[in-house]
Amino acid sequence: MTQQTSLVDRFGRRVDYIRISVTDRCDLRCVYCMSEDVRFVPRSQLLTLEEIVRIGAAFVALGVRKIRITGGEPLTRKNVIQVFEQLGRIDQLRELTLTTNGTQLPHYAGALRSAGVKRINISIDSLQPTRFRAITRNGDITKTLAGIDAAIAAGFEPIKLNAVILKNRNHDEVLDLVGFALANGLDISFIEEMPLGIIGEHDRADAYYSSDRILSDLRERYEMIPTTETTGGPSRYYRIAGQQTRVGFISPHSHNFCDQCNRVRLTAEGRLLLCLGQEHSVDLRRVVRANPTDDHALHDAIIAAMQIKPKGHDFDLEAQPVIFRHMNTTGG
Ligand code: GTP
Ligand code: 5AD
Ligand code: SF4
Repeated sequence: MTQQTSLVDRFGRRVDYIRISVTDRCDLRCVYCMSEDVRFVPRSQLLTLEEIVRIGAAFVALGVRKIRITGGEPLTRKNVIQVFEQLGRIDQLRELTLTTNGTQLPHYAGALRSAGVKRINISIDSLQPTRFRAITRNGDITKTLAGIDAAIAAGFEPIKLNAVILKNRNHDEVLDLVGFALANGLDISFIEEMPLGIIGEHDRADAYYSSDRILSDLRERYEMIPTTETTGGPSRYYRIAGQQTRVGFISPHSHNFCDQCNRVRLTAEGRLLLCLGQEHSVDLRRVVRANPTDDHALHDAIIAAMQIKPKGHDFDLEAQPVIFRHMNTTGG
């Protein structure tokens, strides 16, 4: 029975962070994330907002201290603020945060702050309107920029930008993106594209632009000082001499971080994924629906799931993807 208050896997890694996807839908169609003819999960198959909160609370009861709400675009889910408000009231939760494309932030930034969200990550891969539209397949950069402004005005601290860097698409913008982060007092992480799902649009091996190349590009203009700082995520951070801005690198290919993994993911359908790059999972929607009033079975299912958390991903950009889930169904 469940007296346990921490989750530890077979490799001795403590899981204290869950990423919860509240929807697989999105108002953008980023080329590395989705295929053009993406089919979304029928709404009837999604966890309800109440079930999301219940599962999030169960993880906190079992020792999780950080929850990141993701998607798809989390702010496109109707009434999603309720989830932030209710999770935000749980005492033991140290950090409630979200990853967003920013387009809805002008509406929601204030409510998110009031619900207790302090930090926020906003995705932006290009500062050039035409490129931004091409990478997102339909996006209007003015909306994301307005979202960043709204987040700054609402007082999130820090705000981190995320940019997936693709060779010959936006690799020549890394200096401009860092310049933008510096000018606005923001952090920024550069992400190596991961082979999740078939996207058709480009060859992922050809588009690979390593974190080390980005770092050497940045060193042409800035003195980059490595730090040991962590936000509990996979970014390796650098500081720029004389500046507050941190520059992070999320490098699943060139600097594998699986041995430090502290997180699991919940899909919008209630599937607990034990690794971003593997299919090991447990259907928590079935467990909560079979046990509507008692959390024991839910706690036991979560504890048992730690035994199937895999050692790490086997991403191979040269091979056909072996993971058919796209990032939007996976929760980033
Ligand atoms: P913080 O460190 O809390 O700011 O978050 P983060 O950078 O981990 O989260 P964010 O949602 O901003 O994700 C940025 C990128 O990191 C996304 O592309 C994620 O898919 C990727 N990422 C996050 N966790 C993992 C992981 O466990 N494995 C891999 N391979 N990628 C991850
Ligand atoms: N590889 C790497 N990052 C991805 N993201 C979406 N799809 C991929 C992918 N295939 C990023 C988004 C966002 C974060 C949640 O995940 O750009 O910043
Ligand atoms: Fe939407 Fe984020 Fe996927 Fe882009 S990467 S399509 S913003 S979920």
